Amino acid sequence: MQKQVWRRGAAVALVLLALGGRGAAQGAQDHPGQYSQADIDAGTRVYSSNCATCHGPNGDQVSGTDLRRGQFRRASSDEDLARIIANGIPGTGMPPIALQAPEINGVIAFIRAGFDPAARPVKIGNAARGQAVFEWKVA
Ligand code: HEC
Repeated sequence: MQKQVWRRGAAVALVLLALGGRGAAQGAQDHPGQYSQADIDAGTRVYSSNCATCHGPNGDQVSGTDLRRGQFRRASSDEDLARIIANGIPGTGMPPIALQAPEINGVIAFIRAGFDPAARPVKIGNAARGQAVFEWKVA
């Protein structure tokens, strides 16, 4: 038991050494694939001018969906969200919304940050996925 704790401590020390001058905390913040504060800020504006009329200021006005809390009936991944925003949901009240790729990226960032412009964007998946969403829109 004691030995295990010591080993874990040593491992942590090695990781800290490996991070070098950057420091562990900063390394964590730099983690790639999280949406940036700029994305979230842009998304805040996109949401209030394009989505809030139907989804409400708190994202829970459409029954069964709570965008702020991440409760979706049809979407789960960022790709799903991007597709739904761009194409709408045919036969429902969700229209296609004509947005540029960075605007879609921003509004997804805003949704994933829990509608909190001041939130640290820590809930997000990975860089490859974000990139794929972006490229899918651009292509
Ligand atoms: C004209 C009203 C309207 C606007 C504007 C609108 N939506 Fe919707 N949206 C709806 C409705 C209604 C649904 C539910 C459709 C259904 O499943 O019956 C929906 C569904 C969705 C879903 C799927 C939710 C789930 O439970 O899976 C997402 C995600 C979504 N909207 C995001 C957005 C975003 C982001 C915007 C702004 C860029 C937006 N919507 C603008 C009416 C709207």
